Amino acid sequence: MPVRHSLHREAGTVTIDHSTCTHCGECARICPTEVLCLEDGRVQVHAESMFGCIACGHCMMVCPTESVRVIGRGISPADLVPLAPPEERADRKALASLMQARRSVRRFTEEEPAPELLERIVAMAASGPMGIPPWDVGCVVIRGRDRVQTLAGDIVTGYTGFLKLFQPWLLALMRPFMKRPTYDQMSGFIVPLAKAYVEGRLQGKDLLFYDAPAVLLFHHSPYVDAAEAMIACTYAMLAAESLGLGTTMIGAAAPIIMRKRELCQRLGIPDGSKPAIALILGYPAVHFRRGVIRRFASVSNFG
Ligand SMILES: Cc1cc2nc3c(=O)[nH]c(=O)nc-3n(C[C@H](O)[C@H](O)[C@H](O)COP(=O)(O)O)c2cc1C
Repeated sequence: MPVRHSLHREAGTVTIDHSTCTHCGECARICPTEVLCLEDGRVQVHAESMFGCIACGHCMMVCPTESVRVIGRGISPADLVPLAPPEERADRKALASLMQARRSVRRFTEEEPAPELLERIVAMAASGPMGIPPWDVGCVVIRGRDRVQTLAGDIVTGYTGFLKLFQPWLLALMRPFMKRPTYDQMSGFIVPLAKAYVEGRLQGKDLLFYDAPAVLLFHHSPYVDAAEAMIACTYAMLAAESLGLGTTMIGAAAPIIMRKRELCQRLGIPDGSKPAIALILGYPAVHFRRGVIRRFASVSNFG
């Protein structure tokens, strides 16, 4: 059975042009689902292997004679693009310095990022790996401060309702049934944060999206994990940095949006898909003069 996707139920179809194939076996060696195999010196297609062709396209990308065609699951040979030469790709130094210099930005200049720039960030983010292809992740582009503030207003209204429900007495009542970290997170972070959003908005302060001129909202289908939308957002964050934009990931928007069906529909999030994470973007009005070393909570060697 093919790997289910919100838009595709079928497996990919691989064909080999045996008149040009040199039987080098590169495609068979790279195929992750063993749909392509080298048997008796000839590439054979086993369409039923594992869950069939997932249409990752690796076979088309490695074939030296363009003898492999993959069609289906949203891919075809027309999607192949030339690769930048190695000297034009980010090397260790470029990538490390980009990641070291990148900080969350919560103050933006008046200038709004051009639509083409946002399109470019989305395209760059979509080019990275995030699960089994094709990505079952989507992105809503919210452009312009007016639209961002309309969304912020809807979310803060959601937090007002949340605070009415989660009164201190209810939290105290629920405490014996909650795991300690959940209770601590709720009472020490989520409730105070919700209060800050609501009170901030009453005072004309946007503590949710920080008056950003644009937001990218990443969502995922029920067939994939929220981690995939998170990964997409991380790529977008780095892409935006490389294009001179400042960003901050905003985790506080999705939990409210996902509970408002009408808002999901207005945002164009497909039925059944869930928002996972938002990224605010704009030209930074702050400039960091130094970096800082950050560490994982633990790094251990196994064995
Ligand atoms: C999943 C995720 C959710 C986040 N949600 C928020 C948020 O709702 N509001 C916010 O101001 N920052 C949010 N952040 C940004 C973090 O607070 C940020 O990573 C932290 O301030 C470290 O900043 P730095 O990137 O400048 O080192 C989030 C980050 C991540 C990875």
